Amino acid sequence: MQTKKKVSVNDIIAMKGTEKISVLTAYDYSTSMICDRAGIDILLVGDSAGMVVLGYQSTVQVGMPEMIMFCGAVARGTKRAMIVGDMPFGSYQPNASLAVENAVQLIKAGCDAVKLEGGSEIIGSIKAIVDAGIPVIGHIGLKPQTSSLWEGYKQQGRTKESAKKLIHDARDLERAGAFSIVLEMVASEVASAITKNVSVPTIGIGSGGDCDGQVLVLHDMLGLYEDIKPKFVKRYAELSKSIFEAVSSYTSEVKAGKFPGELNTFHMGAEELEKFRKDRKK
Ligand code: KIV
Repeated sequence: MQTKKKVSVNDIIAMKGTEKISVLTAYDYSTSMICDRAGIDILLVGDSAGMVVLGYQSTVQVGMPEMIMFCGAVARGTKRAMIVGDMPFGSYQPNASLAVENAVQLIKAGCDAVKLEGGSEIIGSIKAIVDAGIPVIGHIGLKPQTSSLWEGYKQQGRTKESAKKLIHDARDLERAGAFSIVLEMVASEVASAITKNVSVPTIGIGSGGDCDGQVLVLHDMLGLYEDIKPKFVKRYAELSKSIFEAVSSYTSEVKAGKFPGELNTFHMGAEELEKFRKDRKK
């Protein structure tokens, strides 16, 4: 998808089986601009922001005000990519009308679609949001919001029963109107079966190469967030190391009086400087 026009829901659906979909998380203006220029198809304003940007232990602590702020910043930095806002824990579980209200807020903040974690158990909320005219991406397999409260971050779809449940959930999401489904840490064989069994594109994270697209957390693939290192992440850069080296050099140069140098310094004009000096002598 290398056109200049904004990526639409129909573009994403049409990519199934023809072109893989590239997705990364984004949380701020400057990095969104870079990702957008680099040709990413979807920027997901993930609630992973809670961990990689805000330093929370899990995504459970993230609320709507924070998501609205991150979504606005990403929207201001993005021209072409589709922007998907993650609905945070507590923003859709209580009931469908709260889910619609909060989805509307993310759209008003600049998102083109929203994402909710859950399968059959949240179908009512997904239908209500779709009926309100808002495009929805589903998210099954590992659901970080609730997994963090139960068994932790574990691979999904390891047994025949759990594989069948995932396929059932994916079909329910498709029927409810989700235009794409994120599959997180699902055994690749199961992710492959789901991809073949639904007409909407699947976006995998730790779910193998047969999904219709791939998503990674930006801070993981850039080597910026080091608290958790999932096996499925490939590091495309080592930014922690680069930032550490840059900050160390800056600190040493400031302390040694080497920064700022002449190139980073402003001067008065000669005439004004002369007047200033004379004035000081009085
Ligand atoms: O919040 C997030 O970053 C996500 C991705 C892991 C898919 O939901």
